[in-house]
Formats: sequence, C-alpha cells, structure tokens
Amino acid sequence: MKKTVQQAKNGLKGEITIPSDKSISHRAAIFATLARGKSVIKNFSNGQDPKSSLEICKVLGAEVEFQQNRLIIKSDGVLKAPKKVLYCGNSGTTMRLMAGVLAGQNFNSVLTGDESLSNRPMGRIIEPLSLMGAEIKSNNNKAPLEIYKSELRGIEYKSPIASAQVKSAILLAGLFADGKTSFTEEFLSRNHTELMLKYMGAKIETYGLTTTVQKSILNPSEFEIAGDISSAAYFIAAGLIVPNSDLILKNVGLNPTRTGILEVLRQMGADIEVLDERVVSNEVVGDLRVKSSNLKGCEIKGEIIPKLIDEIPIIAVLATQAEGQTVIKDAGDLRNKESDRIKTTVSQLKKLGADIEETKDGMIIRQSKLQGGVEVETFSDHRLAMSLYVAGLLCGCTIDGFEWAGISFPEFDGMFSRLNP
Ligand code: S3P
Repeated sequence: MKKTVQQAKNGLKGEITIPSDKSISHRAAIFATLARGKSVIKNFSNGQDPKSSLEICKVLGAEVEFQQNRLIIKSDGVLKAPKKVLYCGNSGTTMRLMAGVLAGQNFNSVLTGDESLSNRPMGRIIEPLSLMGAEIKSNNNKAPLEIYKSELRGIEYKSPIASAQVKSAILLAGLFADGKTSFTEEFLSRNHTELMLKYMGAKIETYGLTTTVQKSILNPSEFEIAGDISSAAYFIAAGLIVPNSDLILKNVGLNPTRTGILEVLRQMGADIEVLDERVVSNEVVGDLRVKSSNLKGCEIKGEIIPKLIDEIPIIAVLATQAEGQTVIKDAGDLRNKESDRIKTTVSQLKKLGADIEETKDGMIIRQSKLQGGVEVETFSDHRLAMSLYVAGLLCGCTIDGFEWAGISFPEFDGMFSRLNP
C-alpha cells in the first residue's frame, strides 16, 4: 500500500493516549498462560506481533476471551502439546520467548515465522538453551526451530549481546530447569520479564547486570499495561520537529530501561516535561508534554543503546533537524532487526535529501533540509514505515509498503490525522 504524507503546515496540537506496550503485552499473554488460574490483562496491544504470541498461547491450551478492553486468560498452568506448527508471524519477541518456554516442556514443537523473521538470527538463543540441555534443530541457526522434549538444567550464562529477547528466553527456560539459572548481560536491556515474573511470584532476583531464576509456580495476576514509549517516540519526534507543535501524550511507559530516547533528547535540548508520574503493575508510567524545540546534535553510544534500540530510525529523522552532527555508534545489532535498519534508514533518508552516512555499527547524520515529492520504501519494516511518515510531515513524501506500520501500531495514521487536521 502506498501512503502519501502531506507536510504539516500548522503544527501538531492536542492530546492523545498512547496505545499499549508491545513488549509487555507479549509477556503478559505468555506468562498468564504459564500461571494456573485466571489472569486479567487491561489494555492488551492491538498490534499484530502480540496477537501472534496470544494465538500461540491458545494453541498451547490457554482459554482466551476479550471483555471490553480486558483480556481474560484462563490456564491450568500446564502447556498442551501443540497439534500444529506454531506461527510467530513477523515477531522476533514471540519466537525467542516461546523458544525459551518450549525448550523445557514435555513435548515436541515447531516455531516458524514470515520471510523476514525466517532470516533473523536464532543462534543467540539456540546456543544458551542448548547449554541448558535443550535439543533444538534449526535451518542454520534460523527458523523454523524444531524443539524436542528435554530436561533442562540451570546454567550461568554471560551473554555476548545486550538483548532482552535472549535474556527472557533463558530466564523463561530457567523456570523449568533443575537448579539455578543466571543470566549476565554487558549493558542492561529492557527488564519487563524480570519485573513481571517477580510480580507473579517467581523466584527471581536481579543484582546489577545479573538475574537469577529458579523453578517457580506463577500466580495468575491482574495487569494494566502502560502505553508503549516506542510508539510514543514518533509523536515525541513529530512534536519536537514540526514547528508550532504542542502535544500531550498520555499513559507513556517510563521504565528506565526504555527511556534512552528521553535521555538523549534532553541532551539535544528538547522541551519535554513529564507529568503525573506513577507506578502501575510494577512499571513506571507518566504523561508527556512535548513542544517544538531547537535541537543540537549529540553522540549516542555504549550502555544507552539497548535503552533506545527500537528508536534509532526515528532518532535519525530527528537528527536531520538538529544543529551540527549526530553520531550513533555500538548499534550493530540494528542490522538484525525486521530490516537491516542501518542500511534501510540511511538509504531512505538519503532519498529525502538527508546528509546521512552509514557506518559499521551506526550512522552519522548532519543537519539537513529534507526535500519532498519523492517515493520511499519500508522494506517490510514497521519502524521504518513510521519514521518515514514523521519525515514526511516535514517535507511531504509517498511511502511504499506503509501497511507494515500495522504490525505494531494499527492506530498510527488515524492518531496523527487527529493532531494535524
Ligand atoms: C524486545 C527486545 C528488543 C527490541 C524488540 C522487543 C523485547 O530486541 O528490539 O523490538 O520485547 O524483548 P532485542 O532483545 O533483540 O534487542
């Protein structure tokens, strides 16, 4: 589908409620299926990816029902052997977290995905799960993953990459393993798994960069899922760079392992105010007020990278409007996302006239005047689709493959239209 975005001439104004966090939604569905009893999840995501996790939970025996905006999951806490292949769609989170859960079960299973997911690296979970005793056959460390029934033992694993998906796969397998499982990462990645498992009564402890888990029974729970800061990021960016904008973004998840974008933007001189900060279901939440601002370039590298990994394409768009230059380093894992996000972001912003160059593990962006009237493409990548839309608000452009935005954020275009009448 081609989408033409018009330049926003009058500034973006108004108040919106940010839709549900996808990372937390995946986990809520999966963890509720592992608990015995009835869990109630308020504000489950509408995105296709969390729905892929939920569909697999149903195949594994969860009873699932929507009542208004509540998702009710009933489970007896013991997964059933699946009668079909488990399809993860486009979702790396579904495949990697489910692999961790399924590795320790008393049955065989197969996980597959769409073309993009079938090209993404799975060795990062196969290797540590195999050290725990899992038996997993793959297509050269890519999906499909055939997972054979095995008995797991705890390990102490030091991960070579800071990845919440890898961490979660190992911790979930640790719930079914004999002995203690500990996972240490180089930099702290998002910690929703740790917070939610603790909330559900698991034996899990974190000290610094190491989390240890033991076999546990999870209690069925009630969750209220915060808004997704990774979805809010597009509105934050648009509010900052479209002149004369003033936006209120309600119900944004502000877990400190996800707020790297706010830290960077403050350093760049952004006018962002946090209002009504509160804690909901063990997660920090707040409202944001964002006003158009003059931004300065900066350097983004090291331990902040996992805290803003999904926001780098939209940060690149912002950086085209920041005085001087912005340098992004240590983000080589972006090449393993839904597209090679270093290559695709750089190539498409270049088409719009950005002064941007690709480096091995990031990019360098200099202040540029974007030029519209061109067609850009999304490479089946939802975050690139949404980032290009925000660039289009500055210069106008046509986006080929815009339908991919629906993978994570079906309400995206409608919400922007309301702020830009
Ligand atoms: C996610 C972790 C991140 C992120 C992805 C969601 C999660 O991936 O990019 O969109 O929910 O755990 P990595 O753990 O591979 O960095």
